[in-house]
Amino acid sequence: MSLVRQRIGRFAYGADYNPEQWPESVQDEDMALMKRAGVNLVSVGIFSWARVEPAPGEYDFGWCDRVLDRLSGNGIAVCLATMTASPPPWLARLHPDSLPRRADGTTLWPGSRQHYCPSSPTYRAHAARLVERLAERYAGHPALALWHINNEYGHRNARCYCDVSAQAFRDWLATRYGSVDALNEAWSTTFWSQRYGEFAEVFPPRTAPTFQNPAQLLDFRRFSSDALLECFLMEAEIVRRHTPEVPVTTNFVGGWFQIDNSAWAPHQDVISFDSYPDPHDPGTVPEAAYRYDLMRSLGGGKPWLLLEQAPSAVNWRDRNAAKAPDLLRLWSYQAVARGADAIMFFQWRQSRGGAERFHSAMVPHGGPGTRTYREAAGLGAELGGLTELLGSRVEAETALVMDWSSGWALENEAHPVGDLTQEETSLAHYRPLWEAGIGTDVVSPKADLSGYRLVVVPNLYLTEPEAAENLIEYVRGGGHLVLSFFSGIVDACDRVHLGGYPGPFRDLLGLRIEEFWPLLADWSAPLAFADGTRGTGNTWSEWITPAGAEVLATFADGDLAGRPAITRHAFGDGVAYYLGTRPDPETMGSVLRRVTAAAGVRPVAPDLPAGVEATVRRSADGTRWLFLLNHNAFELTVPLPEGAVDALTGHPLGTTSELSRRGVLIARLPG
Ligand code: GLA
Repeated sequence: MSLVRQRIGRFAYGADYNPEQWPESVQDEDMALMKRAGVNLVSVGIFSWARVEPAPGEYDFGWCDRVLDRLSGNGIAVCLATMTASPPPWLARLHPDSLPRRADGTTLWPGSRQHYCPSSPTYRAHAARLVERLAERYAGHPALALWHINNEYGHRNARCYCDVSAQAFRDWLATRYGSVDALNEAWSTTFWSQRYGEFAEVFPPRTAPTFQNPAQLLDFRRFSSDALLECFLMEAEIVRRHTPEVPVTTNFVGGWFQIDNSAWAPHQDVISFDSYPDPHDPGTVPEAAYRYDLMRSLGGGKPWLLLEQAPSAVNWRDRNAAKAPDLLRLWSYQAVARGADAIMFFQWRQSRGGAERFHSAMVPHGGPGTRTYREAAGLGAELGGLTELLGSRVEAETALVMDWSSGWALENEAHPVGDLTQEETSLAHYRPLWEAGIGTDVVSPKADLSGYRLVVVPNLYLTEPEAAENLIEYVRGGGHLVLSFFSGIVDACDRVHLGGYPGPFRDLLGLRIEEFWPLLADWSAPLAFADGTRGTGNTWSEWITPAGAEVLATFADGDLAGRPAITRHAFGDGVAYYLGTRPDPETMGSVLRRVTAAAGVRPVAPDLPAGVEATVRRSADGTRWLFLLNHNAFELTVPLPEGAVDALTGHPLGTTSELSRRGVLIARLPG
């Protein structure tokens, strides 16, 4: 049964609830307003460590007891945080060794949050002691629906370079490589006289005169993710021991890749995500869609929880845009359309003081008589009627490949192009699929790909043999694959695959690349397609020699004129396409249209106007739910399949429907 249905009974709706910031008397109003807004789940205690443990080993849970009792008395469930994300000031005073350090040696002091070194035994011991007490105390509490471990692991302290971390890094390396000789081999340390005589000589990649060892940089990112994962697992073990029936999660964050979510995902009972699209940014909607697809895919397609989003403006950008009318609703449904079974906000009541006093909340400074509260309450009422949707899965025929190690290595220094980022390249390939309404999962290169008609692989720079084999076998077995430049270049230690690029994919693609010819940032490379059409590429070009591949497009001028830019190669029972440049958005769109048509990939709903996002969720009983989201600021008409019923009103729909500006339609389709 769906986790949310089981734990909450309805679509989960709520916010971070920080009543410790207010006199207790405010809680009466909170309860009344929560009920009016349809709130049924709140995250409590995320930053409450100093409140419940005011001095080492002295606990005062009275406040928390009363909050939880009051919530459960009002029928509101709790996602209880383990409170370890912001240690109390006394920890730093008594144990300055628990503070994190940057690569340049700067200590990160208290006065903000996340000021702990992930490897610090002192931090871990104090955190464990607190979590033990919490779990013991609240085991069996009727409000406890979910554990929220720590908060946004790695947001500001992902990599710590202090002496404690240095020793932990050495231990991690000793486990990974077994001997210092193996480390030397893996890190190519004969280069620049970096050869180590013993592990004690190894440091984290602290600030250095020039380019650092790429394998060291990469391993330090892996180590840092693992160090935080150890913290997570330590806390998860404690709460699971006390409350085996209560699911455990931690909130992942989008926009950067500090921790390897794919390694963390198997340890979550449900995937949770914090999402902060920027209303000022025209690219923010497909970007959010991409991240939601990634989160859903991390959980193997199971519904996930949107644990935080802003009701309106955030406070941490240079210019913080408010959400225009109806955007709160539209963007919430975007997450639902992509598989979320919970819609939560940061935070319930807008802070009066502290660094987030200008961050929006469900109850703004102006109180409940505000547009934001009204819109939030309206959404809460609607979601209450969508219980049937819980547990349904998003349909996807296409997969986009993403790998954390590869992304980290791609972003290392001293490359042919210095500004390639994983997120940007993933999005450049994802956006046209989103625009075309094609259901897409975001998966590891080692994932089971057999269920997909098409697999798109953006710049998989680091390719391990197992990943290469998986992609090759997928095509051999009849799959359609698109692979873009600077893929298959290095191994897990950032050492180049020899014999001509892209080492493991040459046979698959039927070509060989001898040299990279990157383009300056403001250049574009004209492309001539074999069918007479034109296009352009940017960022990259290269010297490709076909060895069996059909040339779909050539570079049209300069020294590469007439040489291949985009190719197609029949391999086994499938087809592998290769992009030797980054097609501009329009060209990428037309290339992917051709490829999706050849692969038999269909949009989830045909003939939609631009700016209308479409997905389908399918329930276990076969019921299909079509989501149509109008991201335009004007009304339009959308076509619908026959027999559709409006899931929000229960009214039958015709074969077309009006969709208001920023409007949402959820249509239940005939089985
Ligand atoms: C993050 C944190 C929250 C809050 C919000 C503000 O997501 O988890 O505590 O700071 O950002 O946007």
